Parts: sequence; structure tokens; C-alpha cells
Amino acid sequence: MDKISLLISENDIKKRVAELGAQISQDFKGQTITVVSVLKGAVVFTSDLIRSIDCPIDLNFIRAKSYIGMHSNNNVDTPDNPEFDVKGKNILIVEDIIDTGNTLFKLKNLFYEKGCNDVKIAVFLDKDVKRNADVSTDYTCFNIDDKFVVGYGLDYDEKYRQLPYLGVLTLE
Ligand code: IMP
Ligand code: MG
Repeated sequence: MDKISLLISENDIKKRVAELGAQISQDFKGQTITVVSVLKGAVVFTSDLIRSIDCPIDLNFIRAKSYIGMHSNNNVDTPDNPEFDVKGKNILIVEDIIDTGNTLFKLKNLFYEKGCNDVKIAVFLDKDVKRNADVSTDYTCFNIDDKFVVGYGLDYDEKYRQLPYLGVLTLE
């Protein structure tokens, strides 16, 4: 049986995401933000975050996969060509969690290679113990310890994404 213990409540998430959206709205004032949400984990965070941003946005998605079960396989699987226009855009990558940093490092470089103007990064969670890629985030909702978490979009083998709160998963 999997055990999930509450780490961050639905209410605390709601408040923090709204704060982050307000900050992003201020920083991007007068610009259109090309939002790039990283599938699948960032879908829930993205849908809440964009509703608290009051600048024009252009919403896009990109697929990235590096985790199998509870471990990163250090090989990030992403498309070589994004399916949306990147040239000259001000991109905001929206990701569920930064762990090793490999996913965001790869995506950030991909967008610069394709000629974007700027890349900023917003993450719901930052777990910095295993960081090995040279990438920093611009907006973070919560810093957490090195625990495996699920809910609010994050999964364990595709399960638990729909939980409205964040929990720590232990396998029994
Ligand atoms: P990174 O490339 O190591 O930074 O890993 C980022 C990706 O690993 C995230 O987008 C998640 O999909 C996955 N991941 C890392 N830690 C967790 C976790 O605690 N729970 C669920 N997924 C995680
Ligand atoms: Mg992810």
C-alpha cells in the first residue's frame, strides 16, 4: 500500500500561486508572455498560475520525461523542435519541480538555440539536493527537502496527479 502524508495544503498552494502570479504580472508588464508548460506534471500548476497573471499570454506545451518510478534516469527525453513559435519570444517555462535541473537546462538551451529573446523559469517546487545542471529558476512557489512528492500534477508512475494538495509518498 502507498502512503501519502500531507506536506502542503490546498489552501497554502492557492495563496502562494496567486502571489507568484502577481509577481510575474509585475515583472512582465507590457509584454506578451510565451508560456511553455512542461507536460505532464506542470499542467495543474500552469492552469492555476495563468489565471493569476494579468498580462497577455500565449499558452504552449512541451513534453519532457526523465523520471521512471522514483528516480531520474539522467536522460531527458524532449522533442528536438518545439511545435510553437519561439523566435524573438519572451518565454516563461512553467515546470512542476526542479530536481537535478537536467530537464530545465535542456529546455532553456533548446529555446535559446531556436532564437527566443529571453527565457525565465517558474517552478512549483525546488528540491536542490541533487542539482547537477547549471540552471537557476526565477520564480519558485516552495522549496522542499529531498522527499518524493505527489499531487498537484506530480505523479508516481502516472498516479496521484489529481490530488489537490502536495503529499510525501512512501511505499510500504
Ligand atoms: P530534473 O530533470 O531532475 O530536474 O527532474 C525534473 C522532473 O523529475 C520533474 O519534471 C518531475 O517530472 C520529476 N520529479 C522530480 N522529483 C519528483 C518528485 O518528488 N515527485 C514526482 N516527480 C518528480
Ligand atoms: Mg515534469
